[in-house]
Amino acid sequence: MARNKIALVGAGQIGGTLAHLVGLKELGDVVLFDIAEGVPQGKALDLAESSPVDGFDSRMSGTQGYEAIAGADVVIVTAGVPRKPGMSRDDLLGINLRVMEQVGAGIAKYAPDAFVICITNPLDAMVWALQKFSGLPKNKVVGMAGVLDSARFRYFLAEEFGVSVKDVTAFVLGGHGDTMVPLTRYSTVAGIPLPDLVKMGWTTQEKLDQIVQRTRDGGAEIVALLKTGSAFYAPAASAIAMAESYLKDKKRVLPVAAHLGGEYGVEDMYVGVPVVIGAAGVERVIEIELVGDEKAQFDKSVGAVKGLVEACKTIAPALK
Ligand code: APR
Repeated sequence: MARNKIALVGAGQIGGTLAHLVGLKELGDVVLFDIAEGVPQGKALDLAESSPVDGFDSRMSGTQGYEAIAGADVVIVTAGVPRKPGMSRDDLLGINLRVMEQVGAGIAKYAPDAFVICITNPLDAMVWALQKFSGLPKNKVVGMAGVLDSARFRYFLAEEFGVSVKDVTAFVLGGHGDTMVPLTRYSTVAGIPLPDLVKMGWTTQEKLDQIVQRTRDGGAEIVALLKTGSAFYAPAASAIAMAESYLKDKKRVLPVAAHLGGEYGVEDMYVGVPVVIGAAGVERVIEIELVGDEKAQFDKSVGAVKGLVEACKTIAPALK
């Protein structure tokens, strides 16, 4: 059987890390695409030269031409400008929307059967625009945010409790960023929900609230430290988990920015919800009942995404 082909549109910090992970996990051959001349070629060659050391067989190539992504099974999009200190995700909207237009056209022409994972920020709006620009089926275009947000939440919780990250699960909903909705009643340590752990004296509600806030601000915390860019290791690992579930038909239940057509009362928007990812792409959207102030928090988050989508429509009226 031929190897899978994974196209990485954007060969910056996340793109390079994605290529490395694809190689180390032997998920397939990699094509790195970037407008910066020499960068994808240089990264591809450097990674290929690491393959004898790590013992993986994966063809790595770099390109400035979309024709090289032809027939890709998975396309992961990081092309665009990353957030700088003091810049909100929304500031990126105008610039990255134009990038999505080019990328969407390239995917439509050369890789219309691919499973597409968008990472470019502001995520929920960019993935929506990318689906429109590319015209690919809505269940084959998703955004990576929830896996990253829940990984941050899980890491902070594991530290607080002094337990393995493997035994902590987290459930997050909504848009990527400040309005993200972490559902503590569905987040657990080995199946024990967080509210029960508070009752058991493992932590306090106040500490839990601080962890939730730190999770919401997770991206900004890294930007403030790095100063010249945004997070890339954890975002890349998160997108690879999604790609792997698709390529291996694992049917993992993962929180992703998925297209909603009525679920959760949302029409034609991409919002973070738990889904099943398998060989058919998004095979099922899991719709849970929201209780108490969860619904209000979710609606607020959807409102923030709606604002971004409306701004996209103003900049690019072709998007309806
Ligand atoms: N087509 C292809 N590549 C492009 C285009 C374009 N039109 N415009 C920019 N790029 C490339 C840049 O040349 C750069 O190499 O996209 C790459 C982006 O890489 P980085 O600047 O290193 O950004 P990175 O940290 O990888 O983040 C990428 O993911 O998390 C989000 O906010 C982040 O939107 C940003 C994206």
